[in-house]
Amino acid sequence: MIRKATVAAGALILAAGIAAASASDDPIASRQAMMKNTGASIGAIAKMAKGETEFDATAANLAIRAMNNAAIGLPHLFPEGSETGMDTEAAPKIWEDMAGFVEKAKAMEDATAKAIATPATSLDELKAQLGEIGGTCKGCHDDYRIKKS
Ligand code: HEC
Repeated sequence: MIRKATVAAGALILAAGIAAASASDDPIASRQAMMKNTGASIGAIAKMAKGETEFDATAANLAIRAMNNAAIGLPHLFPEGSETGMDTEAAPKIWEDMAGFVEKAKAMEDATAKAIATPATSLDELKAQLGEIGGTCKGCHDDYRIKKS
């Protein structure tokens, strides 16, 4: 069981790398793939938090590392000229207030870095990290994403 979850998290990270590499010529496709992978990473942790899968510190750490990587490169996937197309949910505010947007990405980077530095040793600790990291997703989405569906 524990080994299975670890393998799943490893596969996630691999998938994130492949998605980033294959979609690198289109920033909108790249960022949507990156966000989907980020959603899968936090989903793996949310499942543990809900008791749907067993708490697995290694798998959780791997998922958090994938999110940390995503956060570091995040603003580069929103270059000038990528405001529209591909049903993007990126809000115009990103390009009106790039500094604020970068700050939101930094919050995600910091929360995930903190969780990597102090890995959760219990489900309660993981739940607290999930709350903190999840708050940084919402913090950006509320202002800079226009959800279409
Ligand atoms: C700095 C801002 C920012 C942060 C932080 C952020 N997101 Fe996003 N997210 C966006 C934007 C903007 C989009 C829309 C991208 C597009 O469609 O071009 C998006 C889209 C998404 C999508 C939809 C992807 C798709 O196309 O299907 C998911 C899922 C997602 N984010 C998950 C997350 C999760 C989980 C976190 C936190 C761990 C997170 N995001 C953190 C800005 C952010």
